[in-house]
Amino acid sequence: MSRTPESITSVIGGVAEPADAGRVYRSLNPSRLSETVAEVTLADTETFARACQVATGAQQAWADVPPPVRGRAIATIGRLIEANAEALARIVTAEIGKPYAEALGEVREIVDTCDFFLGEGRRLYGQTVPSEMPDKNLFTFRNPVGTVAVVTAGNFPVAVPSWYIVPALLAGNTVVWKPAEYAAASAQAFFELFVRGGGLPDGVLNIVHADGPATFSGLETALQAGTVDKIGFTGSSAVGTRIGELAGRHLQSACLELGGKNPMVVCPDADLDLAVEGALFAGFGTAGQRCTSLGTVIVHESVHEEFLRRFDAATRAAVVGDPTGEVLFGPMMDQKFADSYEKYLGWIAPHHTIRGSTGTGRITASNPREGFTGDADAGLYYHPVIVDGVRSGDELFMNETFGPIVGVTTYTELGEAIELGNKPGYGLSCAIYTNDPKSVFTFRRGISAGMVSVNNSTSGAEAHLPFGGNGKSGNGSRQSGIWVLDQMTRWQSMNWDYSGRLQKAQMDVAELVPDLDFRL
Ligand code: UN1
Repeated sequence: MSRTPESITSVIGGVAEPADAGRVYRSLNPSRLSETVAEVTLADTETFARACQVATGAQQAWADVPPPVRGRAIATIGRLIEANAEALARIVTAEIGKPYAEALGEVREIVDTCDFFLGEGRRLYGQTVPSEMPDKNLFTFRNPVGTVAVVTAGNFPVAVPSWYIVPALLAGNTVVWKPAEYAAASAQAFFELFVRGGGLPDGVLNIVHADGPATFSGLETALQAGTVDKIGFTGSSAVGTRIGELAGRHLQSACLELGGKNPMVVCPDADLDLAVEGALFAGFGTAGQRCTSLGTVIVHESVHEEFLRRFDAATRAAVVGDPTGEVLFGPMMDQKFADSYEKYLGWIAPHHTIRGSTGTGRITASNPREGFTGDADAGLYYHPVIVDGVRSGDELFMNETFGPIVGVTTYTELGEAIELGNKPGYGLSCAIYTNDPKSVFTFRRGISAGMVSVNNSTSGAEAHLPFGGNGKSGNGSRQSGIWVLDQMTRWQSMNWDYSGRLQKAQMDVAELVPDLDFRL
């Protein structure tokens, strides 16, 4: 079934940019590269900056809408997303090759985010605090930051954007969103659902399709003009570093969600079948293209052999192929990820042992994978790879390898496993398989990750816990739940003196006289 490509342009202040306003990018179906899902007109630097200006112009009126009313808008967006869940998931599957069941789960994550924040409009609490002086009161208020520029990756083309956009809108900010080019059709569908479902006034949510360089210079121009007050970015650590630097030069702190090299520790007492199930999903789900995907299994030497045997068997038995069917994973999302993954495969060294499939590299008619479903030659399909014997200095051990590849290494003492888990310097997600409380809490305390799973996959975070990482995984910002509100608002404190005289803090404070020499 071939579809007519959708023509997509940026929408700024409710007005679609003309289709001939820039270079056209083709977003392809990675399962069938001959199929163009969307033709996307890319905006230039000035257009990006103009969107920020328009959003800034619309912000005060949006902030004047009472937060409970904005909360209702989030509620109705959630209902519209629910009513369109299958259609949206189908676009995600067609555009980035995410298996349909997973794509539906991703859409569910938007609904969960809306469900969480719909009530937050009635809970944007501030505090009332007594002053150190009489007839004076102290208050705190959450203010919107202003205009939020959101730049997102395409591996979660609709769920992750909602983590920024929902709380940003709820808190009274306007948004300029730059989605990944290779996920433009998914983004446009999301945009339509938000604008229509929320009844959002023009300029409150704007979408700008642009490439990386135009986005970066557009951000720079807008920051100089004072029309961006917060940047939310999900993507690679390399680009995140540049965005963080740019924001820092303008005295802003970006909300950064970056890569991961997420470890899974398998203890001697682990339920090995459960650990294998977790490793299979965490390592190969989404073709290993989640920021929370499993990097290295650090398995106790006493169970290493048995774990590897079962992990290999489970990986070999898993169905890879056409993402519209029931598969563990489909194609790589886009040619650029296939290319970088090929580079990571080059890190496999002679001291490594490969397991998990009937070949490595691209699955083709001449390099087949047993049990593959679909047309291998038509898409960007890759063999899953388990690399046993990785050492802590290996490139494969130290770097994120966005793709279906999992390293395996061993440890003797838990302290060593923790050290290995921290060594790559990321700190997003991690997992431990054990039922020993001492191991769990020792691990939790020692591991640098922002998110810890016990007897569960490294991926699959829920929408109401703080999501985010440390080290190369981010700058300490957290998304989701109540925590993201600290990204989307700034605290304002107010003191109100109704005594009718100037009472000087720290100086005009009454003092009680204690008797410090008193003894029983
Ligand atoms: C990402 O890969 O950028 O925890 C986000 C998970 C998903 C989100 C991943 N809920 O795996």
